[in-house]
Amino acid sequence: MKNELVAKSGGRVIGEVEVPGDKSISHRAIIFGSLASGKSIIENCLMGDDVLATIRAFKDMGIEINVSSENLVSINGCNMSIRQGKYQLDLGNSGTSIRLLMGLLTGMGINALLTGDDSLRRRPMKRVSDPLAKMGAKIKLTNHEYAPLELFGSELLKPIKFEPKVASAQVKSAVLLAGLFCDGETVVKEISQTRDHTERMLALFGGDIKVQGGHIFVTGKPTLKAQKLTVPGDFSSAAFLLVGAIIADQGELLIKNVGLNPTRLGLIEMLKKMGANIHVNLISNEFEPVGDIRVRNGDLNGITVDPSLIPAAIDEFPIFFIAAACAEGVTVLRGANELRHKESDRLAVMGEGLSRMGIKVKRFDDGIEIQGGAISGGSVNARGDHRCAMSFIIASLKAKRSIKILNTKEITTSFPNFLEIINSLGLSVN
Ligand code: S3P
Repeated sequence: MKNELVAKSGGRVIGEVEVPGDKSISHRAIIFGSLASGKSIIENCLMGDDVLATIRAFKDMGIEINVSSENLVSINGCNMSIRQGKYQLDLGNSGTSIRLLMGLLTGMGINALLTGDDSLRRRPMKRVSDPLAKMGAKIKLTNHEYAPLELFGSELLKPIKFEPKVASAQVKSAVLLAGLFCDGETVVKEISQTRDHTERMLALFGGDIKVQGGHIFVTGKPTLKAQKLTVPGDFSSAAFLLVGAIIADQGELLIKNVGLNPTRLGLIEMLKKMGANIHVNLISNEFEPVGDIRVRNGDLNGITVDPSLIPAAIDEFPIFFIAAACAEGVTVLRGANELRHKESDRLAVMGEGLSRMGIKVKRFDDGIEIQGGAISGGSVNARGDHRCAMSFIIASLKAKRSIKILNTKEITTSFPNFLEIINSLGLSVN
């Protein structure tokens, strides 16, 4: 992937597509496949750099993982015991990999040094190390907050009852994974529901997990059994195409076999409230709901985002801001401080890019106000954030001139064939 792309103004989004496998689900399939006893087969696993970082980490720790063509992964699981060692693992750009591994490896009492790229080394890690420390883990962070971080294998961890202060599936999952190695029951009570892929995947592999009244109960020392599973398409990748089809002058799109987990679909509610024409058709519901999304172009009006929708749309705000820029009137988002701790400060990066393209933007510590208007085009900087890069590309559908986007190479972390797909639908980007 080039680190600088030019998207010609205009174009269409017409056709029928499938997007690559879900990133969050692919990580978890690799993790539980590695922990289970027996051989797991994962179909449609995302081959983005983030998931490859998780695969590489488990291979470095001695797990036999084979990646063959057609995004098929087979794993010979370790039956809950990775061999002891002092591992040095580089998780690249992937927050999910580093945070989930913090829980898993401290639970197993493994010594390791975890690090990543510049973006990952700027992201907060204390939110994960704090609850793990309460369980008895010994973790040393750089400057008490960041990676590189060291895990010191310690005695068996103790289960805790944990109420995270931030709504974060990564924090929740790290504690649940550590809880798998404790004697007794670990309980997590979320302040708001976040994506529940860890819970669903653990149940699929035969773990002892119960979800009741906003509490998640995990009992340690399960026997996990290998599974064969197919990863659904990633709704967060589909989101770029969905918004593209809505704002394009010619837009009519069918996205097939995409994950429809309700903890991920906040964007659909927000877009519908703006007046978008979207139809969701649930086709199967095994360990995760899967189906098709049909969407066509149309006018949008600005909205005030209901803060309760934020966790279910947490990765979709960059592309939502493009929809807001194309809408009639003002869109307001508050209570979204978490957006500042993603692969970039997404309020800053998107706010800066939109204002450079002539859109009126007011920024707050915890949100943004966007006045819909004409997108001029020009040069913007995605600052190495894959979702900001893809969002600026989609904005070209409505821009008066081409858009040049800098620092785009991280698109391959989550959507390796993004350019191929959008060019086949009717955009012109290279
Ligand atoms: C993820 C959780 C989300 C999301 C990230 C993937 C996961 O982060 O932003 O892209 O796979 O658990 P938080 O829920 O930790 O904010």
